[in-house]
Amino acid sequence: MLTVNSIAGLREQIHVWRLSGDTIAFVPTMGNLHAGHVHLVKEARRQADRVVVSIFVNPLQFGPGEDFAAYPRTRDEDAGRLRAAGADLLFMPEASAMYPLDATAMSVVEVPGLSDDLCGRFRPGHFRGVATVVLKLFNQVQPDIAVFGEKDYQQLVIIRRMVNDLDLPVRILSVPTVRETNGLAMSSRNAYLTEAERVKAALLHAELELALKELSQGRRDFSTMEIEHATALESAGFQVDYFAIRRQQDLRQPDAHELQLVILVAARLGRARLIDNLKVSLAA
Ligand code: PAF
Repeated sequence: MLTVNSIAGLREQIHVWRLSGDTIAFVPTMGNLHAGHVHLVKEARRQADRVVVSIFVNPLQFGPGEDFAAYPRTRDEDAGRLRAAGADLLFMPEASAMYPLDATAMSVVEVPGLSDDLCGRFRPGHFRGVATVVLKLFNQVQPDIAVFGEKDYQQLVIIRRMVNDLDLPVRILSVPTVRETNGLAMSSRNAYLTEAERVKAALLHAELELALKELSQGRRDFSTMEIEHATALESAGFQVDYFAIRRQQDLRQPDAHELQLVILVAARLGRARLIDNLKVSLAA
């Protein structure tokens, strides 16, 4: 596996592969890789001749007071995992190369509406940071396919919208969330949980499963359900940002006839802010 730190070096290698006719799959990450990321890389491996993975802890998507400085950085272990998973190139740009200008002076990507809802309400500017860095990385790597995890469901919907709106020549492939045996969605931020919190964190997924069962049994009083499930999590010791039932495709509020739903939750437990979701496809 090649490791490249400069944008010029990356472009040179991509050019060589393109001349040989190779297709390229891309997995953008912020590092601290776990089994969920490995799953994305393995899927990328199945999709294209060459697999590029980026590790860049993107300052633009962290708000003031968030965990940018504390975000776990484990580059040597990450490189070993990527090598084992079959990545061809690890791209690790410096922040000074990605953002040579002051954040207030540079061009950014806005995906309005979608970015201000759900997590966007609690993390203003977060999705502007995500969309901006993902577009930059797409321009640098120029992949045929990019692979994202479904755990960050709102991020996935926003990236699909950006790709569609801006006619980007890349296919977005999503991969289901990988979970611990107790149901907890794998996440780099699980590292912030104590052992006891890690056990309790499984309740998040259990609550999603409960809501899924209610929807499958015909419940459609979405607002009441959202309040009930958020309250149950609060009683268990979570500080809930939202528990929401939305349309799968665009995250808008569903009407009672909608069949493709997604249940999303964001909640704080100790030092960690956890997010999770479940897709629900109801029979007509
Ligand atoms: O999902 C992530 O790890 C990040 O938001 C991403 C897509 C790599 C952009 O920094």
